[in-house]
Amino acid sequence: MPNLPEEIRQELENSEVSNAEALEQFRMRYIGRKNIIGELFSQMRNVPAEEKKAYGQMVNDLKNLAQAKFQEHIDGLSAGGAEADDHVDLTLPPLDSEFGSIHPLTATRQRFIEIFERIGFNVSAGPEIEDDWHNFTALNFPENHPAREMQDTFFIEKNPDIALRTHTSSVQIRVMENEKPPIRTLSPGRVFRNEAISARAHCVFHQMEGLYIDKGVSFADLKQTLYHFAKEMYTKDTQVRFRPSYFPFTEPSAEIDISCQICHGDGCNICKYTGWVEIGGSGMVDPNVLANCGIDPEVYSGFAFGMGIERITMLRYGIKDLRLFTENDIRFLKQFNPL
Ligand code: PHE
Repeated sequence: MPNLPEEIRQELENSEVSNAEALEQFRMRYIGRKNIIGELFSQMRNVPAEEKKAYGQMVNDLKNLAQAKFQEHIDGLSAGGAEADDHVDLTLPPLDSEFGSIHPLTATRQRFIEIFERIGFNVSAGPEIEDDWHNFTALNFPENHPAREMQDTFFIEKNPDIALRTHTSSVQIRVMENEKPPIRTLSPGRVFRNEAISARAHCVFHQMEGLYIDKGVSFADLKQTLYHFAKEMYTKDTQVRFRPSYFPFTEPSAEIDISCQICHGDGCNICKYTGWVEIGGSGMVDPNVLANCGIDPEVYSGFAFGMGIERITMLRYGIKDLRLFTENDIRFLKQFNPL
């Protein structure tokens, strides 16, 4: 037998452990899953019947001794550690500390707000769980109208309907109900749609809503504001294109496209070889919506837009799959704006 019980007992008695590494070696040899005392137990079957009892007793004692010594070494090390603390060497260079970084979606949201703050916009917020009035009805979605199906909704309650907001346009209503024009506001936030998750879509994503209500606001203001935005968010030569569209709460309505920031017009799979990428919807606030919020459409007009923060961020950094935003992979996250 390579390890006689008596040898092991001697070893244990004389063992010394002066650091964590030695403690781990001790643990592996005497306590861990394949420890040498366990081996002695497995040799039990070779021991003659009449000696089995004494042998078993001896090995058991060894096991207890190993446990006791292990605890002794742990105690010894932590006491030594405390003592070592009394001798801190203040001249040593400090340990490196890890800095976090800003999530790319947060960075885009902040940049967005920076751009619009400089042209007089403030920031407003609304709840993620909305009632039917703010998410649909006040926004001119008639009841049972197919327009409601433009957005697949997660309902929490039906009749009266309570749902996870499908867009940040609900915050337009909340602001207009509570404030008098002039209104210039940005409403960032999470929105929810019952959609399958893919590289381009997610059931939870972020939008940035913009709303400007005053006397004499025209479509020219909408276009000029978004031109300014695109050049500030991306580069001075970024092109913006408006495509006629339909939203119940704006009239006229337009989708906003910008020139593809990935291929710059050469054609790639992000812009589906068109050179243009849609970043959101926009339009002149429908007079019915103003009236629903107690604002006189004969006196005031305004524009609104809603953009996808994920999409804008993907174009900003050349990110090809929006699932990366929520996977919490440090290798991805630490590439953005380290502090
Ligand atoms: N709420 C619309 C959407 O989510 C976008 C939008 C906002 C369109 C404001 C026009 C005006 O698709």
